[in-house]
Amino acid sequence: MNFNWPYPKTIAHRGAGKFAPENTLASMKKGLEFGYRAVEFDVMLTADDVPVLMHDPLLGRTVAGQGSIAQLQASELTRMDAGRWFGSEYAGETVPLYEDIVRFCRQHGIWMNVEIKPVPGYEQRTGEVVAALTQSLFADEADCNQWPLFSSFQIDALEAARYTAPDIQRGWLLDRVPPDWLERIRVLDCVVMDCNHLHLDQNIVTRIKAEGYGLMSYTINDAARAQELFAWGVDALCTDRIDLLSAS
Ligand code: G3P
Ligand code: MG
Repeated sequence: MNFNWPYPKTIAHRGAGKFAPENTLASMKKGLEFGYRAVEFDVMLTADDVPVLMHDPLLGRTVAGQGSIAQLQASELTRMDAGRWFGSEYAGETVPLYEDIVRFCRQHGIWMNVEIKPVPGYEQRTGEVVAALTQSLFADEADCNQWPLFSSFQIDALEAARYTAPDIQRGWLLDRVPPDWLERIRVLDCVVMDCNHLHLDQNIVTRIKAEGYGLMSYTINDAARAQELFAWGVDALCTDRIDLLSAS
């Protein structure tokens, strides 16, 4: 692999999900206020196969109620409040459509790391639908460095995205790097490893970079740790602390 990181090096996690309700338009605006021009967010499908920004497969934490996201129509879900849990000033902030967030980010020059986050059981379908929609939304963009990077913990979702939109590059999201990572990433045809920093060390970073892969890490909320990871050769960090890590 010979992947040279073309994207920003600091990425706001779930929008700016500790400064505004995560995975909402408000969180994207908050990242911009801090000068961030790169964002990670989670994309899931509704019952009618519409991609929306959502982290949890069940209602209850960020959106009041009970039951699975996969049982709600987009027309219902996108009317639901996704901001009040965070603070009364965000009451009325709704669950956004993925395509609306893409338009906002493009309009403001924000690069996107799109985490494909399927409801369990919907891995392949989520990969297919998110990839197909993304491909159509970026059909007018000739510069592929402006396209999003897909990432997912779910192999089936990554493979479905690959077959649906092979030109959109993918990152393999992992907690720990397995011993056979190199064989597996070759099969997956991903260009980036996206690893939990808690399980990274200098040796693993050096090996991944020596093989020519891009390397992202999450979720880094400490300036000294960020400096250490960059010094080891990590390309980019996903952070909640957009106030601590300056945008780069
Ligand atoms: O992209 C890294 C990070 O978003 C993965 O964890 O649970 O915040 O989606 P999570
Ligand atoms: Mg995520």
